[in-house]
Amino acid sequence: MAANGKVTTTNKKVVLRRYVTGYPTAEDMEVVATPGIPLRAPRGSTAAVVVKNLYLSCDPWMRGRMTRHDDGDAVPADDFVLGEALVNYTVGEVVDSTHPEFSAGDLVWGMSAWEEYTLVTKTEGLFKINHPELPLSYYTGVLGMTGLTAYAGLFEVGKPKGGESVFVSAAAGAVGQVVGQLAKIAGCYVVGSAGSDEKVNILKNEMGFDDAFNYKEEKDLNAALRQCLPGGIDIYFDNVGGTTLDAALLHMKVGGRVVICGMISQYNLPEHEGVHNLFCLIPKRIRMEGFAVMDYFHLYARFEKEMAGFIKEGNMSVIEDVVQGIEKAPDALIGLFSGRNVGKQLVAIA
Ligand SMILES: NC(=O)c1ccc[n+]([C@@H]2O[C@H](COP(=O)([O-])OP(=O)(O)OC[C@H]3O[C@@H](n4cnc5c(N)ncnc54)[C@H](OP(=O)(O)O)[C@@H]3O)[C@@H](O)[C@H]2O)c1
Repeated sequence: MAANGKVTTTNKKVVLRRYVTGYPTAEDMEVVATPGIPLRAPRGSTAAVVVKNLYLSCDPWMRGRMTRHDDGDAVPADDFVLGEALVNYTVGEVVDSTHPEFSAGDLVWGMSAWEEYTLVTKTEGLFKINHPELPLSYYTGVLGMTGLTAYAGLFEVGKPKGGESVFVSAAAGAVGQVVGQLAKIAGCYVVGSAGSDEKVNILKNEMGFDDAFNYKEEKDLNAALRQCLPGGIDIYFDNVGGTTLDAALLHMKVGGRVVICGMISQYNLPEHEGVHNLFCLIPKRIRMEGFAVMDYFHLYARFEKEMAGFIKEGNMSVIEDVVQGIEKAPDALIGLFSGRNVGKQLVAIA
């Protein structure tokens, strides 16, 4: 860094080379080094913060922004801009700031970009880290966006009661592992599905799930659900959609809640599969509700305090899948769509 805070060397970033159809590939992204690091927030304009990114979060939602959308799309999205760093959550350290609430040296997490240094101008998406005594990387997951997703989706949408049965898919992932453990804390019976025996073992032996199954090995999802949840499901926390959602609907109890968090099985398909068992909603009086975490950031302070407590008390295990180096980021993101990640996928870059 130059003493005068001026541009010095290069800023490595992950950029989108072309818009994606189907599954993302390594050729869709590249790591480039652009001249100049923004080390000083511009004075006299809107408040801005320069963040040195330490950890990049890998999130399935990034896939949606890799497709070019047009104005006529039913679901509008902010497309990533070709050639610019991918926008997503990171954990980092403030290098310079013109924002009154942030100072150089502060540890922060929030919306930044997949590059070494980012000039953040939308500072409402940036949060100070209040528990630096816990691993900083946790703010990409359990203490960050995916943890809040689990917390808001389970408690605000699912509304669990002690003794109820909860089924969660993609259970060993960033959101799923937190949903399952929060549901246990709430006194529920918890079953998870995941895509490998290793993940199933982690769920049962390290995360306190009551039961779990490997959906890739199960020829009959109905039989697996009947066996694990013979009394039925009160809350299905859906991270995957598709055939798992369809099967779960058949096993819901009267008054059940289906929390629609994500549908990762559909994100790379040219056409979304239909859901066939929606008729169950009527006789069983099921409430099925989608939610977006962005509507629950007002809960963040309460969530962070509670979650930090759960971690310190030993009530929340955290499994992360950490790769080293920004060059590995594209491959880590791609791996989410085949289930290669075991736990929260993130990239350490400093
Ligand atoms: N509503 C919101 O605001 C919000 C916020 C954050 C995330 N989400 C959604 O929550 C879900 C989980 O996100 P996450 O960050 O926790 O990711 P994650 O679970 O850590 O990683 C994705 C996992 O999805 C599973 N998967 C991939 N392809 C699949 C397929 N075709 N069928 C079934 N499972 C598949 C894989 O696990 P297996 O090995 O088990 O297959 C993979 O490890 C995603 O759908 C995401 O879009 C929603």
